[in-house]
Amino acid sequence: VTAPDLAGRHVVVSAGGTREPLDPVRYLGNRSSGKQGYALAKAAAARGARVTLVEANTGLPDPAGVDVVRVGTAVQLREAVLKAAADADAVVMAAAVADFRPAAYATGKIKKTDDGGAPTIELVRNPDILAEISADRAVPGQVVVGFAAETDDVLAHGRQKLRRKGCDLLVVNEVGERKTFGSEENEAVVLSADGTETPVPYGPKEALAETVWDLVLPRLRTPAV
Ligand code: C5P
Repeated sequence: VTAPDLAGRHVVVSAGGTREPLDPVRYLGNRSSGKQGYALAKAAAARGARVTLVEANTGLPDPAGVDVVRVGTAVQLREAVLKAAADADAVVMAAAVADFRPAAYATGKIKKTDDGGAPTIELVRNPDILAEISADRAVPGQVVVGFAAETDDVLAHGRQKLRRKGCDLLVVNEVGERKTFGSEENEAVVLSADGTETPVPYGPKEALAETVWDLVLPRLRTPAV
């Protein structure tokens, strides 16, 4: 039996990957499966929290006892997360949010031309939701957690990212062939703004989810409302 140590808390989790439409049939997307975010949402619900899961394009079934908000793009994900975060004790950004979106949406399908040429796609920056909620906490003492997938110099890049984003905890994954995207397993180091490092050995995403909540718990404002 899981201890209901998150009872009385509202937590927000984002999961999946945003898709940025280019024309009616195409989008820019990424390989996030949403499994880590779903594991986080399920674990929090099992520990007694009220959970809002903002999911983008996962195709996964709604977990029992979790409020699910479905979104497509980064801009929609931002709206939904900010709304849910208004009264949240903790926000965990596990979603892979596109850093860029096409500057323009073509209302008709982009066609090949007879001259053999290819179109140029202009991109614009998406809002950085994690940096925004970290800088502008809707609730004093709200705990904000980010994820970072890195391919090299994982810890050094992770520490820089933690500072740049301004969040309390950053879960740093090494992206490899076997690991992270679409896989059932994960291996990570959780970095905290107060300088601690918690290695999480290679294992199921459920185990990493429990470790994240274990680290969020002592950082939550007291008492629970
Ligand atoms: O900068 P990078 O994309 O590596 O940061 C990853 C973290 O930032 C994740 O927690 C992700 O959810 C969040 N993020 C965000 N908004 C963006 C890009 C990333 O909230 N536009």
